Amino acid sequence: MKFFLDTANLDEIRQAAALGVLDGITTNPTLVAKEKRPFREHILEICEIVKNGVVNAEVVSTDTEGMVREGRELASWHPNIVVKVPMTPDGVRAMNVLTREGIRINVTLVFSPTQALIVAKAGAYFVSPFLGRLDDIAQDGLQLVREILQIYRAYNFETQVLAASLRHPIHVVEVAKMGAHIGTMPFKVFEQLFKHPLTDRGLEAFLKDWEKAREVLGDITEPATARKVGR
Ligand code: E4P
Repeated sequence: MKFFLDTANLDEIRQAAALGVLDGITTNPTLVAKEKRPFREHILEICEIVKNGVVNAEVVSTDTEGMVREGRELASWHPNIVVKVPMTPDGVRAMNVLTREGIRINVTLVFSPTQALIVAKAGAYFVSPFLGRLDDIAQDGLQLVREILQIYRAYNFETQVLAASLRHPIHVVEVAKMGAHIGTMPFKVFEQLFKHPLTDRGLEAFLKDWEKAREVLGDITEPATARKVGR
């Protein structure tokens, strides 16, 4: 499963990119607005940091014509940009035009299997079901991803399932078990994926034991034996 970071914050993106396991970024108007910088400049800086990863940037028009115009503009900024359009009839019409021009589309704000079916039939590159927001209204977000994958597999649809609005590591594990193509998550959740208390405790014990025998062991880069024989 590919890891995308759901943020427009450059520090978070830099930290995640340095780990070498980051495959892309999702942004949305809310996330971009938080950064308070010119949109184009900011998106291009993200593209520069993630290098070979895709960067999802969203249109803000709500009519087909406006979305097509904005989608073309966004896609012209950088080859790694995927254009996000909302799951509305206008969004699907805009996708129809843009995909025929070779622009990759991520259909966002997907909350039902029927919406996902339309998205795949219309040839989207990514479909973004929002799990966490379904959980927020007491519906099963994971079940939505399960159903989308089942439908897509039954018809060999090529649209990739981008599990979005992931709120905690269990969401990540569950969508990975189902075989979702991508999981996008906030930096906080990404950090949580690394953590286990036994890792911390184990490391602490290793270092304590090493310290006790330090005199004999020497440094890894300057072994004690080498020092003792005066080399
Ligand atoms: C994905 O593209 C969306 O930006 C995101 O996952 C929404 O997550 P939220 O429900 O935590 O805002």
